[in-house]
Amino acid sequence: MAIGSRLRHVIESQQFSRALLEELLDRTDEIKRQPHHFSGRLNGQVMAALFYEPSTRTRLSFEAAMLRLGGRTMGTDNAREFSSAAKGETLEDTIRIVSGYADLIVLRHNEEGAARRAAAVSSVPVINAGDGPGQHPTQALLDLYTIRDELGHIDGVRIAMVGDLANGRTVRSLAYLLSKFRDIRICFVAPPQVAMRDDIKEHLDEHHVQWVESQDLDAVLPQVDVIYQTRIQKERFSDEASYLALKGVYRIDASTLARMRKEAIVMHPLPRVDEIAPEVDADPRAAYFRQARNGLYIRMALLDKVLA
Ligand code: CP
Repeated sequence: MAIGSRLRHVIESQQFSRALLEELLDRTDEIKRQPHHFSGRLNGQVMAALFYEPSTRTRLSFEAAMLRLGGRTMGTDNAREFSSAAKGETLEDTIRIVSGYADLIVLRHNEEGAARRAAAVSSVPVINAGDGPGQHPTQALLDLYTIRDELGHIDGVRIAMVGDLANGRTVRSLAYLLSKFRDIRICFVAPPQVAMRDDIKEHLDEHHVQWVESQDLDAVLPQVDVIYQTRIQKERFSDEASYLALKGVYRIDASTLARMRKEAIVMHPLPRVDEIAPEVDADPRAAYFRQARNGLYIRMALLDKVLA
């Protein structure tokens, strides 16, 4: 947890102070400008990546970040099948063992709360790389960085969070981070079945963040600086019919771009399925590939902060 400007475990967005966020974003700017200046910072250190759920960006950007800082990596994909979890080992026992081998553990797990459980028994820092429908704080850090990098500010931002908000750990973590800033306005655009959960709305109320809900994306588009699109997460639905009823409910395409403000941006944590048409990619307002690239730099800054 954050202690002043120190950082050990990274479990949830609420633990970051605004000062620590700004320090990390400024550091990320430095790294992005001159990444080679930071090579060798983590010489001799070892990162373990334990991924119980699939990943492309988070896993590989953490690995790339560690390697570019001079550290080394080890780990397991599909840990539910390829680690001793398949033999019945508890998460806690796995973490006790791996924390004896590595200097830091990056954990993605299918159960909400898993990262907190891991941190409770780990002798080395644990970074939550997504815990089921819970949180994904490092994604939120790269999202926050991208907003500042693209728009030049975070205070005053108007953002529409769109799609599967009930199961979307990225939007949950980003809402917590945005609540540290001033004059933020959030519009949750989702069907009622996957509306943003009450815990986030209550947190925003406590922090005097303005939020509204809508099901009408077209009406919201001209009013916001950021469209944060998300995937309807098939893997979080208990039956196929419920997923199919929502699949494709909000799609960003050329007609969406025409209704957006000229200086607004489209973000997406990725992967996308069909919720952003490929024709959008060529528009300069499509920020999602730049956003994914920023994941490398923010994770370099984070690993440096925790380990250096
Ligand atoms: N945004 C994100 O978490 O992507 P991956 O699932 O590919 O890591």
